[in-house]
Amino acid sequence: MRCCARRNAAFTAVLVFSASRLGYAYDLDVTSTDSIKSVSKDIAQDLMTFYTGNRPGGIPGLLPDPYYWWEGGALMGALVDYWYYTGDSTYNDITQRGLLHQVGPYNDYMPPNQTLTEGNDDQGFWGMAVMTAAEYNFQDPPEGQPGWLALAQAVFNTQAARWDMDHCNGGLRWQIFTWNNGFNYKNSISQACFFNIAARLALYTGNATYADWAVKTWDWMVNVNFIDHNYRIYDGAHTDDNCTTITPYEFSYNVGAFLLGAAAMVAYTDQAGQSGDTEMWHERVDGLLNSTEEVFFYGDNTQDKIMIEVACEGVNLCDVDQQSFKAYLSRWMAATTKWAPWTFDRIKALLQSSAVAAANQCTGGDNGRMCGLKWANNSGQWDGTTGVGQQMAAMEVVLANMIQQAKAPVTNSTGGTSVGDPSAGGSDDGRYDPVGWQHGSIDGGDRAGAAICTVIVLASFLTAVVFMLADETKSTRDNWDNFRSSVAASPATAAAAVAKVRNVGHGKKDNAKAAQEKGKGVSSESSSSTETGEKIPSAFKGPSAPPPPATALNGGRMRGGRSGGGSGSNDGISPVSGDTPPSSSSASGRGGTTAMRSPRSSVLKKTKGPSSK
Ligand SMILES: *[C@@H]1O[C@H](CO)[C@@H](O)[C@H](O)[C@H]1NC(C)=O
Ligand SMILES: *[C@@H]1O[C@H](CO)[C@@H](O)[C@H](O)[C@H]1NC(C)=O
Ligand SMILES: *[C@@H]1O[C@H](CO)[C@@H](O)[C@H](O)[C@H]1NC(C)=O
Ligand SMILES: *[C@@H]1O[C@H](CO)[C@@H](O)[C@H](O)[C@H]1NC(C)=O
Ligand SMILES: *[C@@H]1O[C@H](CO)[C@@H](O)[C@H](O)[C@H]1NC(C)=O
Ligand SMILES: *[C@@H]1O[C@H](CO)[C@@H](O)[C@H](O)[C@H]1NC(C)=O
Repeated sequence: MRCCARRNAAFTAVLVFSASRLGYAYDLDVTSTDSIKSVSKDIAQDLMTFYTGNRPGGIPGLLPDPYYWWEGGALMGALVDYWYYTGDSTYNDITQRGLLHQVGPYNDYMPPNQTLTEGNDDQGFWGMAVMTAAEYNFQDPPEGQPGWLALAQAVFNTQAARWDMDHCNGGLRWQIFTWNNGFNYKNSISQACFFNIAARLALYTGNATYADWAVKTWDWMVNVNFIDHNYRIYDGAHTDDNCTTITPYEFSYNVGAFLLGAAAMVAYTDQAGQSGDTEMWHERVDGLLNSTEEVFFYGDNTQDKIMIEVACEGVNLCDVDQQSFKAYLSRWMAATTKWAPWTFDRIKALLQSSAVAAANQCTGGDNGRMCGLKWANNSGQWDGTTGVGQQMAAMEVVLANMIQQAKAPVTNSTGGTSVGDPSAGGSDDGRYDPVGWQHGSIDGGDRAGAAICTVIVLASFLTAVVFMLADETKSTRDNWDNFRSSVAASPATAAAAVAKVRNVGHGKKDNAKAAQEKGKGVSSESSSSTETGEKIPSAFKGPSAPPPPATALNGGRMRGGRSGGGSGSNDGISPVSGDTPPSSSSASGRGGTTAMRSPRSSVLKKTKGPSSK
C-alpha cells in the first residue's frame, strides 16, 4: 500500500499549512564558509531524522515510506556532498554502509528487494552517487568489496546492454522489467542518468567507449525531440507510437543531469585533445544553462533569480519524488563549474540567491527550523511541508555556495583511488529476470489493496486535471465544484472522465494515458518517474522560448491562476490551489548579495543548436 501513503503524504502535506513559527530562521551569509557550514550542519541533522537505515531494525540505504528506493541513493549522494564541502565526516560511515548494502548480488544496484519498482533512472541515481564518491575520493570500501568506480561501471554496463533499438530507434526504457508499468515509456531522466554516468566515467577513466555512449545518448535525445532546439528537455514518450507523442512536462533534474554530463564531456574532450568536440560541448553547456535559468529560476535577472520546480511547486502538486529535484539541480549546477569554469559567475549568482531564499523559509516543524519546498516568491514563510526532499534540497543549495573552495574532482590519473572493473555487472547484462524474484508472489490481498490504490490515485489525478477542463470564465471554485459532481469519485465515472479527457486532443489523450498508466503503475508499485507532473504554465516561459510542442496541453494554458486566487478548496484527496503561477515579469526576486555580480565570462561561439555535429 505504499502508493497510498506516498500520494497522501504529498497531498496532506499542504494541508498542515502554517501553524508553528518559533521564529527560528537561519541567518545565512553565503560569503562566509563558517556560516555555510553551520547552517548546512543543522539542515543535515534535520535531514537525517528522516533516515531509518542506521537505526536498529533499519535497512542501510533505505528511507521509510513514502520514499522510494531511488531516493535513498539520492540521499547517499547528498551525504557524500555534505562531507565533500564541509569536511565533516559525521555521516561517512552511515553513507558507506548504505551505498554498499544496496548493491545487490551482482554489485550493480539491482537488489532483488526492489525489482517491483526499479527503473533505469532509479538504478541511475545510485550509480551517480557512487560516481561522485569516486570523484571526491570518498572513503573507499573495505577490502573485498567493490570500489565506487566499479559500481558506477556496473550500472553503466547493465544499462548500455539495455539500449533498445526496437523502438524509437534507441534509448533506454524507463522500467527495467517487463512486468512493471512504464516499461513502454522512454523517459528523459533514464537517459539523463545514463548520459551523466557515461560522460563522467569517460573523464575519470579516459576510456573512449564511455564517451561514445554519451554522444550516442545525446544524439538520440535530440533526434526524438526530447531535447528541443532551445535545449529544453521534456519528460518522455511511449514506445507504442515510436516516441512521437511527447509528454511535455519539464523537470529540473533532467536539465541538471545533462548539464553536468555535458560539462564532463567538455573536460573529457579537452583532455583527449579533441578541440572541435570541446567547442561543441561548450556550446551545449551554455544552451542547457540558458534553458535552466529560463525555466527553473524565478525572478527578473540572474542576480536575484531563485530556483523553482516550476511544473508543480506553485500549484502545490509536487509529489514526494519531485520535492527533492531542486537538490539535484543545485548539486549538478555547482559541480558543473569545476569542469566548465566559465559558467562560474553565472551559476554562483543563481545559487546564491536561491540559497538565501531556501534557508530563509526553514522555520517550520517542531524545532522551528525545518525547511519547506517554496523558496521563490516567498519572503520567508514556511509552506507547511517537511520531508527528505525539502531538507535535502535546502542543504544542497546552501552547500553549493562553497563550490569555489571545494577541491576539484579527481580522475584515475589525478589522484583518484577508487578501484574499477571495466566488466562489472556483466552477469546481469541483458537480464530481464532478476535473481531472487519470485513470479506470481502477489497474493489476492495485495491485489485488492492495489485496486483500491488505483481508484484513489486515479481519482486524485482526475481532480488534478480539472483545471484543464475548466471553463475559464468561471471561478476556480465553480469549476472545482462542477468537476467534483461530475466525477463523484466512482471508478466508472472516473473512467468516463478519462475517456472524455482522451477525446479532446492529442495532448490530453497523452495525459489520460499517463493517468491510466500512473494508476496502474502505482498499483504495482512501479512508478517512480514523473509522468504526471504538470506542464510549465506559459507564464514561466522565458522570452525566447518556443511554443510548446504540438502535443502541449490546452495550448499551454494549464492550471493555475486564470480564475484568480484563493478559493483553495481542499478535501484532502486532491490539492486545489488558487495560486496564480508567478510570471517572470512580475517577479519579486529577492535575497542574494551582490558580491558575485560580475557578468558571466561568456565565450559563446556561433549557435549550432543542440544537435550533434
Ligand atoms: C531485503 O529485504 C530483507 C528483508 O526485509 C532485508 O533483510 C534485506 O536487508 C534487504 N536487502 C536490501 C539490499 O535492502
Ligand atoms: C521511429 O523514430 C525514430 C526516431 O525518431 C526514427 O528514426 C524511425 O525511423 C522511426 N521508425 C518508424 C518505424 O517510424
Ligand atoms: C587507473 O590508473 C592505474 C595506474 O595508472 C591503472 O593501473 C589502472 O588500470 C587505471 N584504471 C582504470 C580504470 O583506467
Ligand atoms: C544562451 O543565451 C545567450 C543570451 O541570450 C545567447 O546569446 C546564446 O546564444 C545562448 N546560447 C545557446 C547555446 O543557445
Ligand atoms: C573501456 O570500456 C569498455 C566498456 O565498458 C570496456 O569494454 C573496455 O574494456 C574498456 N577499456 C579499457 C582499456 O579499460
Ligand atoms: C507570490 O505569492 C503570493 C503569496 O503566496 C501570491 O499571492 C502571488 O500570486 C504570488 N505572485 C506570483 C507572481 O507568483
